[in-house]
Amino acid sequence: MPAITLTTLQSLKQKGEKITMLTCYDATFSHVCNQAGVEVLLVGDSLGMVLQGHDSTLPVTTRDMAYHVASVKRGNQDALILADLPFMANATTEQTLNNSAQLMQAGAHMVKVEGAVWLAESIRLLAERGIPVCAHMGLTPQTVNVLGGYKVQGRNETQARQMRADAIALEQAGAAMLLLECVPSELAKEITHAVKIPVIGIGAGSDTDGQVLVLHDMLGLSLTGRVPKFVKNFMTGQPDIQSAISAYVAEVKAVSFPGTEHGFSA
Ligand code: KIV
Repeated sequence: MPAITLTTLQSLKQKGEKITMLTCYDATFSHVCNQAGVEVLLVGDSLGMVLQGHDSTLPVTTRDMAYHVASVKRGNQDALILADLPFMANATTEQTLNNSAQLMQAGAHMVKVEGAVWLAESIRLLAERGIPVCAHMGLTPQTVNVLGGYKVQGRNETQARQMRADAIALEQAGAAMLLLECVPSELAKEITHAVKIPVIGIGAGSDTDGQVLVLHDMLGLSLTGRVPKFVKNFMTGQPDIQSAISAYVAEVKAVSFPGTEHGFSA
């Protein structure tokens, strides 16, 4: 067991201390993130874009994910490892169980699934079998073709009401954590207060229980040159990567990142 567990994250929420999460895909960065005190390492399917060079996360397979989870595990000491179930890996009940089992056996401590209230059944199924689940809501990159692009979600009242209700339903189904991506800051705040489980934000303002960024983004590395509004380059003014990641941890803990300029309004 790592030093950081779900119980640790729950107690950080209760104490009002922010949770730090970064994406991580290999052993060296896993070690560096551990040294900096990052509490959760997200082996995200963003690896399809930042490592593999695809233009979306859709080509990523469970095999790819398991390879990177195992690499991150080798460099990890204290952090909780969260792994994405990639596109269509949860299409059927059998696939959900088999693919989640592969990620847990590779070294994950929790899996993340993208979606909304329709995830309730598979979240219950996994939680009952000992696999904690983080539900990723708001902008869900695996459904970019339905959403018509990487756009802020929950901006109108109907969508916002639905997202609040879905968050509560997923907590009741057994989700251990929520991740909100590109959601108006006020809505993210309401959802964070409405549920007892930790809520992590990316482009969701400063009132969630914690923050996550894609490692390459916060180190100022970009294949496309397009930098989302919610990203801050933590290499600016820092002598090395270790210091940049430590600065991220310090700013999240001090609630100085994200600033209002990194958030969205309704
Ligand atoms: O895959 C990923 O890196 C993610 C983050 C954008 C939260 O899901």
